[in-house]
Amino acid sequence: MDKLRITGGAPLAGEVTVSGAKNAALPILCASLLSAEPLTLANVPQLNDTTTMLRLLGTMGVRSEQTGTDAVILQADRVDKLEAPYELVKTMRASILVLGPLVARFGEARVSLPGGCSIGQRPVDQHIKGLAALGAEISIEHGFVVARAKRLKGASIRTDMVTVTGTENLLMAAVLAEGQTILENAAREPEIVDLAELLIKMGARISGHGTDRIVIDGVERLHGADHRVMSDRIEAGTFLCAVGAVGGDILLRDAAPAAMGATLDKLAEAGLQIETGPDWIRARMQGRPKAVGLRTHEYPGFATDMQAQLMALNTIAEGTAVIVENIFENRYMHVQELCRLGAEIDIDGHTAVVRGVPRLSGATVMATDLRASASLVIAGLAAEGDTLVDRIYHLDRGYDRMEVKLQGLGARIQRITGKESA
Ligand code: EPU
Repeated sequence: MDKLRITGGAPLAGEVTVSGAKNAALPILCASLLSAEPLTLANVPQLNDTTTMLRLLGTMGVRSEQTGTDAVILQADRVDKLEAPYELVKTMRASILVLGPLVARFGEARVSLPGGCSIGQRPVDQHIKGLAALGAEISIEHGFVVARAKRLKGASIRTDMVTVTGTENLLMAAVLAEGQTILENAAREPEIVDLAELLIKMGARISGHGTDRIVIDGVERLHGADHRVMSDRIEAGTFLCAVGAVGGDILLRDAAPAAMGATLDKLAEAGLQIETGPDWIRARMQGRPKAVGLRTHEYPGFATDMQAQLMALNTIAEGTAVIVENIFENRYMHVQELCRLGAEIDIDGHTAVVRGVPRLSGATVMATDLRASASLVIAGLAAEGDTLVDRIYHLDRGYDRMEVKLQGLGARIQRITGKESA
């Protein structure tokens, strides 16, 4: 198993290019199932999760051709298996995103039910409820969601809570349904807007994306399209937290500052000097950050996917920060590990109180999930001495060559491969 060795204390300086967004790329790859014609995608990040999604689509008969490091052409003209098996779904919950497209285009789907995961239970009842409202017959058989429909029929659907992949699944189902669908209480994340824009290029009729009421007029078929996946706002935010923690001066290229308002506001409050252009962000930091409290919320609120990284910044801040996690019930797995580096954090239910300490000290820590891993890397960069971050396969799921990008900014960080550490 690979690990990262980090020698803390080096400030960051230079330029780094932000990759395409994982959480936009995953639904967009699934949208290839909606048409027999090719989808030509650019800015697809190189991640274990995108590789897993391409493998899953491949098992169904979707052909994909890598035409550059971040470019791929997908074609779903020979789909012959309408199933997502347990082995793949258990490694990546986003596999549930094939459910809507499969039932919409082929009238049938069998997708293994994802189990709970380290950040919470994460049920998919709203995906199922929405598809049933669109007229699919749904049953749970041997651990699989089985959905059937001759042709889905437009409906008005209000999900019980705001769900990102739930909104995406229902959006992809509704584009091929007969008649109009209205999604109320829809998620407003920029990744949903990116998916909707791709679907519109494919011939879908959608309005209201980016608001909590999306209106979709179903069409009979969709065609091929070209699309560039939006920039990853969470990867960008992670680099900004890193420079906030260790100081320095960095420029992020291919960034999407317009989608990062809540994160940029918090980082400015913490003392970073931030300048932005349409697709770049420059961040400078000197001295210790100031403590900044936050409450995670659906977009445009503060993203739960940035909570762990901001917590890492707060561990060495001047003052005490109160953090409230509102989206997932168990997204504090990084706390214990940050405490191993000398952080002072107390948790009470959904609330974490972080008392900033002047310095962290390097130690061996274990990554437990994707964003937890990122917070440990940030803390390791700020800590005195060496930190070893174990189980970085979590990090590789969602960050495109993170240690290489950080090395480019002057960080002392090295990957130790399974073989070397054995
Ligand atoms: N929920 C239900 N029932 C459902 C759907 C959701 O109870 O049918 C609950 C969840 O358990 C959670 C809340 O609703 O408490 C919100 O979950 P949501 O469905 O929005 O999360 P998701 O779609 O499974 C996506 C991202 C996550 C990100 C969340 C929240 C993708 C592939 N994943 O997950 O990304 O944290 O939205 O913004 O888009 C990550 O990248 O590290 C990550 C976990």
